[in-house]
Amino acid sequence: MIDFSDATFVANPYPSLKELRSFGKPVWHDALGIFLAARHGDANDVFRNKSLGRIFVNRQPLFDWETFNWLHSDSILDSEPPKHTRLRALVAKAFNRNKIEGMRPAIERITNELLDAIDQKVKSKENFDLIADYAEPLPVKIIADLLGFPKSEEYLLRPWSQAIVKMYEVNPSQQYQSEAMLAAGEFASYVRDLAEHRKENPSSDLITDLAMVEENGEKLNMQELVATCVLLLNAGHEASVNAFGNGMVEVLRRPDQMNVLRTSPRENTESAVEEFMRFDAPLQLFERTATRDTEVGGVKIEVGQRIAALIGSANRDETVFENADEMNVARAVNPHIGFGAGIHFCLGAPLARLEMSVSLPALWEKYPQMALASEPLRRPTFVLRGYESIAISA
Ligand code: HEM
Repeated sequence: MIDFSDATFVANPYPSLKELRSFGKPVWHDALGIFLAARHGDANDVFRNKSLGRIFVNRQPLFDWETFNWLHSDSILDSEPPKHTRLRALVAKAFNRNKIEGMRPAIERITNELLDAIDQKVKSKENFDLIADYAEPLPVKIIADLLGFPKSEEYLLRPWSQAIVKMYEVNPSQQYQSEAMLAAGEFASYVRDLAEHRKENPSSDLITDLAMVEENGEKLNMQELVATCVLLLNAGHEASVNAFGNGMVEVLRRPDQMNVLRTSPRENTESAVEEFMRFDAPLQLFERTATRDTEVGGVKIEVGQRIAALIGSANRDETVFENADEMNVARAVNPHIGFGAGIHFCLGAPLARLEMSVSLPALWEKYPQMALASEPLRRPTFVLRGYESIAISA
């Protein structure tokens, strides 16, 4: 059975995932004690089945997990109805379409600033790093700007977030655990101070909006407010960095695809963004627990049993996608589930799409001749799938 931490598997998980799909139904992983839903229909059902919930189980000592635990149990992502319904309504009211579309000028400005800095390197014949110089700072700056996180302290976000999300891998090491626990404490206390300050001194940012938002007489309490801000700051950039990097590496390996983008960058932006989300999913696995007996793909899931939706596998399902193992930036029909489905469907999908649809063509237009300068360096993790660095010559 699959070993999710095996280096060969992480380097290219798709052949093993294809084999998993060939069973034609969810498969039990004995060592991990979880069903794996690898086909598109089954993974989609895992997200939509009302008898399957995101049940956050508090982490227990070894370490002091108190803050880590409530950062999750009080967040939208890790709660279920009725709490989820209430939190999602409040957050969606503050984080609405107008707010997101209003970010367009900021996204364009940040994109241009980053490209100007890259240009300095290109002019002095240096390579640039697509991750460190573009894909990473872009969503970090945007989500920080949106929430009203102080610019001078943006550098704190990425290390805190990276430490926390390592806990989402299958079997995190003890070192990862202690780093996540410390990061959760620091992050929460920083955001609590910021939120308390904004409550007293309102400003035109999302932290203030979330502190003030009210729906049917309900408000977010301080713990929910902090948990929401931390979730948005983390979710608001982690996957975006990798969606961008994973897609770009494949395009740069495929001259025919690069050619499509080079010759008509704007016409294919929308389909390219969706194909980036499909082809090498930045988030590969999400799990659910049965709250009562149910069934997925003809397999009985008993109350208390866990099942994982394998997004990257679902997005390569050959029964749904034509030439599923090939990137096609002009793909017309693309029902990928990169943003999930059902009640937890990604709240940030419109923002992630807007960011990519501004920043991708800006890069293609500026450097139509760009190429991989060396073999890009993969991160060793499966669930959050991405690259450490991607050296580019232009
Ligand atoms: C390419 C980038 C992104 C990807 C691939 C992605 C993917 C996902 C997925 C798969 C889920 C569902 C998880 C589940 O059902 O268990 C989710 C939920 C969520 N995402 Fe994203 N996301 C991205 C960007 C963003 C951004 C930019 C934000 C915020 C600014 C964001 C905020 C959220 C939130 C708040 C949820 C929880 C929604 C809920 O539980 O109701 N995401 N995302």
